[in-house]
Amino acid sequence: MRFIEIKHLAPEHLPSAVELDRLCFGGLWTLEGYKRELESPNSDLLGLWTWETEDCESDPNRAGTGTPPLQIPAGTGAPPLQIPPTLIGIGCLWAILEEAHIIMLAIHPQFQRHGLGQALLLALLKSACDRQLERATLEVRDSNLAAVYLYKKFGFKEAGRRKRYYEDTGEDALVMWRSGLEKPEFQRCLTVEEQEMYDRLHQKNWHWAIDSFEF
Ligand SMILES: CC(C)(COP(=O)(O)OP(=O)(O)OC[C@H]1O[C@@H](n2cnc3c(N)ncnc32)[C@H](O)[C@@H]1OP(=O)(O)O)[C@@H](O)C(=O)NCCC(=O)NCCS
Repeated sequence: MRFIEIKHLAPEHLPSAVELDRLCFGGLWTLEGYKRELESPNSDLLGLWTWETEDCESDPNRAGTGTPPLQIPAGTGAPPLQIPPTLIGIGCLWAILEEAHIIMLAIHPQFQRHGLGQALLLALLKSACDRQLERATLEVRDSNLAAVYLYKKFGFKEAGRRKRYYEDTGEDALVMWRSGLEKPEFQRCLTVEEQEMYDRLHQKNWHWAIDSFEF
């Protein structure tokens, strides 16, 4: 069985974060940069891990019910690990006044299109709500349709562009905003996205670890 878990990064996770950052962004932040994020009270730095255990039977009663994936605690009583926990996703937001600035979101290329980016963005937005922030914003490459579509799913709208923002390609950055995080409609949107996320992860045979981020 393969599990996923989302939780805050700790100092011991940073070398893996730098490695994943290199793979996904060509080295956006150094180890020092990540350390600063951990130390900042205004930063939420989340990681998504996966691991595999020897197969055991899934609960047949849950099939197709749309309920959260089977939860088995990592550690005691769990079957032996076949693949140890590996960091495959990373996300970060900065809380600035009443705004959540989403400054990083990435899933390891081998694990994309499984719904994991959606799960990590959901966790970041949940963190923003917990901090009682009212708006979320981010910048994304014009050509990065995967990310743009993902953000639009969560109600982000294009609010402008920064011309030739990215030095490497000279591309524009789209500036996207999502307002109303404090409103009940947004909570309802998160609930819908959360249910979709659980269904999708279930279909892809991912199991949500019991110690993971609580939605
Ligand atoms: C953007 C990124 C995080 C998406 O992660 P992911 O796990 O592949 O995304 P998901 O499987 O959760 O997909 C969720 C939604 O995103 C959109 N999406 C993701 N990949 C897409 C693609 N290749 N083409 C079109 N839409 C895509 C879709 O709307 C999708 O919903 P759908 O499957 O119902 O159509 C991932 O592509 C990534 O890490 N890219 C490299 C780093 C990066 O560019 N980060 C964004 C910086 S702003």
